[in-house]
Amino acid sequence: MNYLSRLIIASHNSHKIDEMRKILMDFSIQIFSLKDINWKNPHLENGRTYYENALQKVRSVVDHFGEPALGEDSGLEVDALEGKPGMYSARYGGCGASDKDNNCKLLKALQGIPFDKRTARYRCTLVLLFPKGEVYTWEGTCEGIITFEPKGFEGFGYDPLFFLPEYKKTFAELGLEIKNKISHRAQALAKLREFFQNYH
Ligand code: IMP
Repeated sequence: MNYLSRLIIASHNSHKIDEMRKILMDFSIQIFSLKDINWKNPHLENGRTYYENALQKVRSVVDHFGEPALGEDSGLEVDALEGKPGMYSARYGGCGASDKDNNCKLLKALQGIPFDKRTARYRCTLVLLFPKGEVYTWEGTCEGIITFEPKGFEGFGYDPLFFLPEYKKTFAELGLEIKNKISHRAQALAKLREFFQNYH
C-alpha cells in the first residue's frame, strides 16, 4: 500500500466533518471536505444498511476524483421505538426536516415512556475506500438515554436529547472535547486511527 497523504471526507454535514477533522488532526494527512473540493452533488442514500449508505457516499467521490475517501453513515436507535429512527435519523421528521423537527417528533413518540425505558444508542459505520477498490470499514456505538426535554447547545442532531448517565449531561451540554472521546463516531475513528498507525 502507498503512503496516504490526502483524504477526502465524503460528507456534507459540517458538524461531522469538524468532529472527524479534530479526531484525525495529529496525522500528517491533508483532509478535504466536499466543500473544499467544490462537490455539491447530494448523496444517494438508499442502501439497506449503514454500511451500504456509507459506501454509496464514498464511491461516487472516489470514482470522480480518483483519491481515497472516508465516509460514514450514522443514526440514533431508540429501544422503545424498536430501533427507530435508525438509518432514517436525518429525515425522521420528514424530508428536509430540521434537527428541531426531528427532536420534537422523537419526544412525541416517547411521550409517557419512563426514564429507564428511554435507552438508546448512536451507531456509526465508517468506510474508507481506495481508488483501486480496497475497502475498509469500522463501527462504533455509544449508549445513552433520551431525555424529556432538550438540554445544551453544542453538537448537532439529537445531541440535546442524548443523555450520558456517567456524565449526567447530554452531549449538547458536554461539548465536543468529551464527545470526541466517547461518541460512536469517536469509537469508530479510534479504530481507523489504529489502521493509519500501522499503515504509515
Ligand atoms: P446521515 O448519516 O447523514 O444519514 O445522518 C445521520 C443522522 O443521525 C444525523 O442527521 C443526525 O440526525 C443523527 N446523528 C448521527 N450522529 C449524530 C451525532 O453525533 N449527534 C447527533 N445526531 C447524530
